[in-house]
Amino acid sequence: MRTRVAVVGLLACLLVSAVVKVKAQQPPAAGALLSDQVFKNVQVMKGIPVDQFMATMGFFSASLGMSCEDCHMADDRDWSGFAADNARKRRARQMIQMMQKINADNFGGRQMVTCWSCHRGADAPRTVPDFNVQYGPLQAPDPNAVVAQNPLSPMPDEVFNKYVQAVGGAQKAAALTSFAATGTNLGYGPESTDQRRTEIYSTAMPLRRSVVVHTSNGDATTTFNGTNAWYAAPLRPVDVLTLAGQELAGAKIDAMLLYPAQVKSIAPRWRVGTATTIDDRDVDVVQGNTADGIMVSLFFDQKTGLLTRSVRYTDSPVGKLPVQTDYSDYRDVNGVKMPFKLLQTGLDGRDTFELTQIRANANPEASRFAKPAPVAPPKK
Ligand code: HEC
Ligand code: HEC
Repeated sequence: MRTRVAVVGLLACLLVSAVVKVKAQQPPAAGALLSDQVFKNVQVMKGIPVDQFMATMGFFSASLGMSCEDCHMADDRDWSGFAADNARKRRARQMIQMMQKINADNFGGRQMVTCWSCHRGADAPRTVPDFNVQYGPLQAPDPNAVVAQNPLSPMPDEVFNKYVQAVGGAQKAAALTSFAATGTNLGYGPESTDQRRTEIYSTAMPLRRSVVVHTSNGDATTTFNGTNAWYAAPLRPVDVLTLAGQELAGAKIDAMLLYPAQVKSIAPRWRVGTATTIDDRDVDVVQGNTADGIMVSLFFDQKTGLLTRSVRYTDSPVGKLPVQTDYSDYRDVNGVKMPFKLLQTGLDGRDTFELTQIRANANPEASRFAKPAPVAPPKK
């Protein structure tokens, strides 16, 4: 479902970089295809799952305000082109090593300094303080920060109870055991003009979720079957990618977020930080860490009690990788308020889902949650 940026070529070769192996934050999970098994010229970020590796590319692009083609002479119709080295790509490799060394030498290996810390969306980091920032209007606090329980904020249970009340009450919420939804999906950038049909299938017990987007190049399918998760899509380096580790755990969280009765059990403990605002609405921020080490932030509208945003952060060798979902257009489905609009934002793309119909308790057939088949590549 992630948007890929279309790529054109440039650049030439220079320089040689030292090779230092970067330690992954988490041991790779069994079953995950690793970066250096799939890609031809991985020298630094070896041994990490392929989807995590691809997300680090989104992290680079976001941190430097670049797109893929700024560092690669390549096109997503032929992934082998990304292996070629050039001056900027080598520079980026050196930067990963520099960053790791800064963190190792000064912060006990914790990821305190990342590409974003210095670059802030630009190729050349600023060196002189900016008067516009010093004397400009006060900036709103970064809603992505780690929060601690604020003694003046409500306790987590209060916020969760209010949420379940707001969607229709515990009984109604528990009675939602499955659904099938249809609607449209819009990507970002070049994909934002193409309205694509989309379907979402889910069951609460066992917890399963499958999202299908019918793109002009073929179906993009993300499926979690309760135990395993896959991502199958056209024009990807791996046609059917098995998710593992935190990426698999993230797919489970995405499924739990569909059921208000399950949201609280995403993490064993929660904390409620200082209230903040999203789109001028006051929200309570509830944060927890799952057993798999994923930090999750949930934002609940103080007035309506409804969930307006979720953000989950998975680890990578270059920094935490956020995936954010914004929920709106809540409508009644069988006595339960469900969001009909979902805006999913990641480092490598943004997708808007606008649902037209949600059929509660549709009990989708088991085949909807089977491992997706590879998508035939589109004709060149
Ligand atoms: C700031 C520079 C930079 C940007 C921007 C960037 N990459 Fe990379 N890319 C790298 C570096 C450096 C490596 C090699 C990493 C290593 O050796 O561990 C790499 C490696 C890759 C590889 C592996 C190629 C192979 O076969 O060895 C792929 C695929 C890739 N990038 C895709 C992308 C995509 C897609 C984007 C845009 C979302 C992107 N990159 C953005 C720097 C960049
Ligand atoms: C401690 C600060 C710092 C960190 C952390 C950092 N950089 Fe840099 N980076 C710089 C500076 C300074 C330059 C040089 C800018 C110049 O020469 O104008 C630079 C230059 C670059 C360039 C060359 C840009 C160009 O104009 O071609 C790339 C690519 C780059 N960094 C990638 C990264 C990546 C990827 C990361 C994270 C893995 C990272 N940097 C982390 C400070 C940093």
